[in-house]
Amino acid sequence: MEIREPTSPSEWASYYALRYRVLREPWNQPLGSERDEKEFDQSHFAAFDNNVIVGVGRLDYIDPSIRQIRFMAVEPSCQCKGVGSNLMILMESEAWNSGATEIILHARENVLGFYEKLGYICVKPSHLLFGEIQHFLMKKKKG
Ligand SMILES: CC(C)(COP(=O)(O)OP(=O)(O)OC[C@H]1O[C@@H](n2cnc3c(N)ncnc32)[C@H](O)[C@@H]1OP(=O)(O)O)[C@@H](O)C(=O)NCCC(=O)NCCS
Repeated sequence: MEIREPTSPSEWASYYALRYRVLREPWNQPLGSERDEKEFDQSHFAAFDNNVIVGVGRLDYIDPSIRQIRFMAVEPSCQCKGVGSNLMILMESEAWNSGATEIILHARENVLGFYEKLGYICVKPSHLLFGEIQHFLMKKKKG
């Protein structure tokens, strides 16, 4: 498995399509809702299996010491095979290597265990997405 930023237009299309399929379509959200206004400023990671994107994640710059992981999604047929944790490990390396000392994220309730295994601590409930998906603020410190 190779993890890198998408490059060609078709890779970028696959990248956003996976985000949409996993994180938006099941809740009947419109196409386009999988993107926000910050796409051009952030770091994007895609996991490729035989040239097919099977996992995605975005690392946002919050301030010199804090990064935020967003839009984590793994193709349903490829989940629980290590794709998500490999993406997280690479995003964490980039965060620590670029001077961050803390990573934050907002996790959906059903995946708290995934992030806890990677050393994230649940801080408090945060927002409710689409009126039904409770999120929790989680943090991990460098060290
Ligand atoms: C959550 C997600 C990114 C995890 O990616 P993945 O590739 O399936 O995870 P991995 O195979 O790397 O799993 C790593 C470990 O976490 C565990 N894990 C995975 N999903 C889990 C979950 N939902 N709850 C608890 N543990 C979980 C795995 O069992 C594995 O444990 P092990 O190391 O003891 O074997 C992926 O399942 C996904 O896209 N889910 C749907 C979208 C979503 O909710 N994204 C997160 C938004 S905050």
